Amino acid sequence: KGDSGLSEVTLLKKQVSVLQGQLTALQASLSKYQKVAAFPSGRIVGNKAFVTSGYEGNFDDLKQRCLQAGGQLASPRNAAENAAIQQIVILHNKPVFLGINDIQTEGRFTYLNGDAIVYSNWQQGEPNNDKGRENCVEIFVNGKWNDRSCGEKRLILCEF
Ligand code: IPD
Ligand code: CA
Repeated sequence: KGDSGLSEVTLLKKQVSVLQGQLTALQASLSKYQKVAAFPSGRIVGNKAFVTSGYEGNFDDLKQRCLQAGGQLASPRNAAENAAIQQIVILHNKPVFLGINDIQTEGRFTYLNGDAIVYSNWQQGEPNNDKGRENCVEIFVNGKWNDRSCGEKRLILCEF
């Protein structure tokens, strides 16, 4: 009984050692992948990666393309994420549509899952629902947000 207990500990030690090696390899691989994802105009913030393909389209089109790729439209939840998105907007000098809208209820901006937004960075005077038809949100080179018609074409930016 004592013997088999010992060999079980020995076995477990071997398994832990194998796992440690695999974890080290995985960490190296992940670190490399993060650099790939961030080049030439992606950004990593925490465990979120923001990536554009350069494609431009309307909100529904962009939303669909991010979903298809296994991600979703960029949805900044804090200033650090907003700054990362802003850097990509600056690089391309083109505003992007965020994964935020008030399509469901005018004036209540939500993420794509319907939750009310927890962070915002509106340009002064926005959102103004200009002409009563602005339910999507674009982010400018200055990092500020403007509500805009969902039918406009903007640069795609997905988060993964
Ligand atoms: C509008 C203005 C306005 C903003 C609207 C835009 P436009 O542009 O920039 O300040 O709130 O979202 O549509 O239509 O006058 O070129
Ligand atoms: Ca507006």
